[in-house]
Amino acid sequence: MTLITDVQLRKVLDSRGNATVEAVVHTERDGFGRASAPSGASTGEYEAIELPADEAIAQAREHAVSRLVGQVYAGDQRMVDRTLTAADGTDDFSRIGANSAVAISMAAAKAAADVLGAPLYQHLGGTFRGSDVPTPLGNMIGGGEHAVGGTHIQEYLSAPVGAPSVSDAVFANAAVHQTVGELLSDRGVTANKGDEGAWAPAITDEEAFDVLESAIAEVSDELGFRIEIGLDVAASELFADGSYQYGDNTRTTDEQIDYIAELVGDHELAYVEDPLEENDYEAFARLTDRVGEQTLICGDDLFVTNTDRLADGIGSGAANSILIKPNQIGTLSAAFDAIELAVENGYEPVISHRSGETEDATIAHLAVGTAAPFIKTGAVGGERTAKLNELIRIEDTA
Ligand code: PGA
Ligand code: ZN
Repeated sequence: MTLITDVQLRKVLDSRGNATVEAVVHTERDGFGRASAPSGASTGEYEAIELPADEAIAQAREHAVSRLVGQVYAGDQRMVDRTLTAADGTDDFSRIGANSAVAISMAAAKAAADVLGAPLYQHLGGTFRGSDVPTPLGNMIGGGEHAVGGTHIQEYLSAPVGAPSVSDAVFANAAVHQTVGELLSDRGVTANKGDEGAWAPAITDEEAFDVLESAIAEVSDELGFRIEIGLDVAASELFADGSYQYGDNTRTTDEQIDYIAELVGDHELAYVEDPLEENDYEAFARLTDRVGEQTLICGDDLFVTNTDRLADGIGSGAANSILIKPNQIGTLSAAFDAIELAVENGYEPVISHRSGETEDATIAHLAVGTAAPFIKTGAVGGERTAKLNELIRIEDTA
């Protein structure tokens, strides 16, 4: 009853003003699903390939659409995704583009949920999964590839782990974001916002910790629950010629491990993403061995939502958490496989947006449907609040 009757593809705007792929899937019984692909800036070397939107659309129309229409049921997500994979025929979606693939994959899931009359998270997670809503990690201060001239560490995150509800957590992050803005202006520092809405002042990493800690203390006191700090170091972007480059400062791999371990202790970090470069499983394992009891060491560029790379990481003890970005791997099924492998091995899955986003809120449903403990999706800006407000709605109606 969810046979796909039409697949449309079009070019729409993303939050950076770039073109991205939007897919619409129609099925029997008036099923309708619409979804769009996000886009990274600090992309991992091993991610599935994003093609220019026009090319991805043309290739998917030529190779994938006729294999889906009249042949595949949107309710059979595995079959939808196997068909996309077969239509592509490569191991990195370089023929039809991971952007076309993920947009179609997500649109099919939405069309199936529409026919079933179920919320997307329930269709994705199944009825026994419950509706635990994840804690949002909000990007407060940043730099790296998302804002030239900002901090070296790409993202300073607010993690309202003590919030009694997702709504409280979302508003806590917004309050921390506002407070950071006020503290920066008190210090006479002007700041624009980076691609994910974080403040991007020209301050040092130490000053960023200082400002964020003050803001968190203020908001946490006022709201009466615990808020912790997380980081996305995005260290692959800092790594050049065998060492980590912080402007004029250089750290060897051993020094980088010491530095991150000190930050975890000094700032009681709840979460550290990509603290080392994406090929160095061994250094990841040494850091996880040192601080993995105290914090989450999360692989983003390291794992790229890929079960083969995650299996290598599990084997070597590289981390204890994985970032899940469906567009890194191209389909919802492959993202699910990565989540399942992670959970089976005690790794915490963290569902994530990209720096280039649209108003698509599928990741909010993916996070609830898989009972992920955290979702990283910014704090302010329409393409970020699309997901945060969806979490509030899910919590309110579940
Ligand atoms: P990206 O950044 O979407 O630009 O890759 C987000 C991240 O690194 O987590
Ligand atoms: Zn990252």
